[in-house]
Amino acid sequence: MSVKYVTVIGAGQMGSGIAQVFAQSGFEVTLLDQQEAFVQKGLSSIQKKLGRQVEKGRSTQEEMDSILSRIMGTTDLKTAATKADLVVEAIIEQMEAKVSLFQQLDELCPAHTVLASNTSSLPITEIAAVTKRPEKVIGMHFMNPVPVMKLVEIIRGLATDQETYDLVEQLSRELGKHPVEVNDFPGFVSNRILMPMINEAIYTVYEGVATPEAVDDVMKLGMNHPMGPLTLADFIGLDTCLYIMETLHEGFGDSKYRPCPLLRKYVKAGWLGRKSGRGFYVYK
Ligand code: CAA
Ligand code: NAD
Repeated sequence: MSVKYVTVIGAGQMGSGIAQVFAQSGFEVTLLDQQEAFVQKGLSSIQKKLGRQVEKGRSTQEEMDSILSRIMGTTDLKTAATKADLVVEAIIEQMEAKVSLFQQLDELCPAHTVLASNTSSLPITEIAAVTKRPEKVIGMHFMNPVPVMKLVEIIRGLATDQETYDLVEQLSRELGKHPVEVNDFPGFVSNRILMPMINEAIYTVYEGVATPEAVDDVMKLGMNHPMGPLTLADFIGLDTCLYIMETLHEGFGDSKYRPCPLLRKYVKAGWLGRKSGRGFYVYK
């Protein structure tokens, strides 16, 4: 099967990045969100990132225009689903929302369409089970920021077939990414390892061991991490971090994954990190 039309659902920080990298590699992309304002926000963030590449002399205005001409924004799920060869879902990290969307996609998409989820931690098998095509459902987990990070973690659900796996692996390579195969367990590999570190960093602040700045300095200057864990948590989104910890906690039933109460408190306050203007740090 060959893929020409890709529909990306969710025009937030991940969805817009995923739409950008597919369009850069020559695919025709439809970027969908629930409201026109969110679609426009996603499109303008792509435009800004491509504009910076032109300013730096790394790409031309013609290349930028050509990439943008391959991305169409919409709020109409039916149209976006009907023409897709591949759907990549990048909506909120909550099972009810994903399941409801995958049920609709299964109804609306042609029989050949592969349904991929960019979920950070939720079981692909459970998402696939609400469709009549579980063999065509797969995890295609990009890292943030999508245009920069090389990894795509590919997650096989219990029923994912080899043809679907091979297709998504091949597409990841066409995007210039490095695919890594993992099986379907809570948090996969990336967030099973990363998120407990971030959660532990939040506990060190919660318990008064050190300030956020000190924790980040320790990890940046002492361990050579490009961002400290609290800067990274703000960058990922504290809501997403909390949902991932909840999935690990529930999925393994082990108290070592208990989300830090401070993380919960910040999310309840609407302090979601960079995207809301405040998290462990304040953003203008
Ligand atoms: N979107 C697109 N491109 C971006 C970007 C963004 N948000 N932020 C930075 N870049 C680009 C810059 O344009 C620049 O590109 P050029 O070299 O072509 O000019 C390049 O990245 C380097 O940027 P900077 O020099 O401004 O900054 P930096 O050297 O500090 O790098 C970073 C920025 C790449 C984000 C780096 O800090 C980093 O690697 N941070 C850690 C990111 C990380 O761990 N990501 C994984 C998060 S976990 C995840 O994604 C999984 C999940 O499920 C939660
Ligand atoms: P975000 O909050 O930036 O964007 C989510 C977007 O989805 C919003 O624009 C929202 O309006 C839209 N949306 C919500 N429900 C929708 C629906 N039913 N239909 C259409 N659009 C809908 O979130 P994000 O950081 O882009 O994360 C999206 C997904 O990617 C999550 O599953 C997350 O776990 C995963 N992910 C996030 C990161 C990260 O670093 N933030 C990294 C890898 C994977």
